[in-house]
Amino acid sequence: MPSISYDHRAITVDGERILLLSGAIHYPRSTPGMWGSLMERSQEAGLNAIETYVFWNLHERQRRVYDFSDRLDLRRFLQTAQQLGLYVILRIGPYICAETNYGGLPAWLRDVPGIQMRTDNEPFLREMENWVRLLCDYVRPYFASNGGPIILAQIENEYGNIAWRYGEAGERYLRRIVEMAQSLQVGVPWVMCKGGAPGVIETINAFYAHPLLDDYFAQYPDKPALWTEHWPGWYDLWGYPHNRRTPENVAYAAARFFAAGGTGMNYYMWHGGTNFDREGSFLQTTSYDYDAPLDEYGLPTTKMYHLARLHRILQEYASVLVHSERAKPEPLQANASAYTYEHAGRSLVFLCNDGEQEIQVSYEGRRYHLPPQSVTLIGDGQMLMNTAQVEPRDVVVRRMEPCEPNLSSFQWWAEPPPDEARDALHPPVLSDKPVEQLPFTHDETDYCWYLTKLMILPHQAGAGTLELQGVADVVHLMVDGKFVATTEPPLPENRNLDDPESFTQRFELTLSAGEHTLAILCCALGLIKGDWMLGERNMVDERKGFWGRLVWRGEPLEVPWRIYAGLSGEHCRLYAEGGALVDWKSSIETARGKPLCWWKTAFERPKTNAPLVLDLQGMSKGIAWLNGRCIGRYWLAVGTGKPEGWLLQAVYPEGEGLPTQRYYHLPAEWLREHNVLVLFEEVGGDPTQVRLCYRG
Ligand code: GAL
Repeated sequence: MPSISYDHRAITVDGERILLLSGAIHYPRSTPGMWGSLMERSQEAGLNAIETYVFWNLHERQRRVYDFSDRLDLRRFLQTAQQLGLYVILRIGPYICAETNYGGLPAWLRDVPGIQMRTDNEPFLREMENWVRLLCDYVRPYFASNGGPIILAQIENEYGNIAWRYGEAGERYLRRIVEMAQSLQVGVPWVMCKGGAPGVIETINAFYAHPLLDDYFAQYPDKPALWTEHWPGWYDLWGYPHNRRTPENVAYAAARFFAAGGTGMNYYMWHGGTNFDREGSFLQTTSYDYDAPLDEYGLPTTKMYHLARLHRILQEYASVLVHSERAKPEPLQANASAYTYEHAGRSLVFLCNDGEQEIQVSYEGRRYHLPPQSVTLIGDGQMLMNTAQVEPRDVVVRRMEPCEPNLSSFQWWAEPPPDEARDALHPPVLSDKPVEQLPFTHDETDYCWYLTKLMILPHQAGAGTLELQGVADVVHLMVDGKFVATTEPPLPENRNLDDPESFTQRFELTLSAGEHTLAILCCALGLIKGDWMLGERNMVDERKGFWGRLVWRGEPLEVPWRIYAGLSGEHCRLYAEGGALVDWKSSIETARGKPLCWWKTAFERPKTNAPLVLDLQGMSKGIAWLNGRCIGRYWLAVGTGKPEGWLLQAVYPEGEGLPTQRYYHLPAEWLREHNVLVLFEEVGGDPTQVRLCYRG
């Protein structure tokens, strides 16, 4: 069986150094039928490895109930890689961040008495160990030590970002999990990104890794430089513009890393895919396209073709790179240097311009034109490519085209207020105070209703501000059965539980004197992915719904509450076979723009092999299902939010003023000849504008 190890220069397989060019493809973010072509395309683009995180939150949704079927069939994913001869980097976590619900931790962990996440806490370590042991046994045949494709495994994820919060307990935690990992005898090296411990390989996550390498080698002279996350784009948040990164800039960062002495790089993400169902973490769009080289649907982009040219050169000269020592930079001029690698009569030279200006340099008697932030690769004296020059034949332009025929006409059914639901599907919880929703919803639904009666005295009547202190995430307010207000995007990605403003929402209303019913529908947008998203709290403190005070015109209103988890339509599975239970109405004119409305339509499978998408233009916010399977949350929130400043070092915003996400992937494997589409619309929409499209 191959033996995997490493030296100061590279990962080794049976003692031979290898150059690792890897791409992240998360198995739950596509369907099993896509895995083969995703990996074949990756291989054609010059990658020799696939990386994935493991999603504990999805495999063990309920405690001790495991699911490895369909999109969670990790063994099938590993077999696919193995059949193609690709290596696999398995990032087990089990905390993974990854823009997945709760950063990869199952939501039920919150209910374990005494638990604190990701620190030296017995209940957490017990649950984590139970899962990691089970998972390692499940994938054991796929470790290289047993003849499989997995050559590296990762425990935890970026602990360095939060270690300071936990002090000595954090250090003990790190030691314990590394001991645990080593006791699993997986027979391949363990890596830890951004915050490791002795006995594992520390790795880098960044937009640009080369500026970090001098420090890296000073600290780890006997380890190879591995870049576990090279972000070729970035994720999108509802209410913010789409994040993009140019192919030229990604290629520059990649080439620059190998010039400076790196030998293993993984694009995070190579294929981003889709946050199906309710799997995305807080504020994540359903698309996890990531502006990655393979687009959300698995189709090649300009970025993929451009990077493929670089990869072919790196693979062609892999032995030159790994068999020579890390090159020393030869200064050419300010911000420009050359790195030369030579082995067995062959050479690869990187001419790097890190500056913002285009420059001319002389190297070995020839003049080179170096565009800003670019690397020119010269193999055996021949100029092979410059990373800033995209070949015209590599440019791909795609569009969404409407399908013919399109959707048949819609039918609708109004979600009843929970106290009017015909068969009281779910009895309310009665409480003197609002209570956050997760103890009732267990994160099995986004929705939770809070109902009360308000007595407005004459001096309180009129226009004013209704303040909900301690509320998350999007709320819709109904007074006397009428929809009166809703949360406006953009919401901040990071909030602070200890700052009351952070979880306060205000709505301008007019209330007349007398008794009113107030119904608040709280809609969760995914659990946080890390504790910094709550300020200085542990992830266990994550909460949704309404738990604070209700204040009208500055006066707190102390009223009893009836709390209902979920929607009637969810309880009777209206999006699936339960849809037969209700009397769907066809007169859509009366329902256009109606809040809290279920919509249903059908379509015949179009005769195209191109990926299908749903154009949800005209709708507002809700959830969509195809043939009973949840394709994800939707929200046509317009991208007005400002991206965080640090992203602008590599990423630029696109589509300001347009909905962050308009198109929603309908995976081919979920289609039938005759298809049923169901939408739950919260705010009100016009389904006559909804279109079935293909990615042309
Ligand atoms: C990293 C993290 C990944 C992912 C990425 C952003 O810091 O390790 O899991 O969250 O950021 O996409």
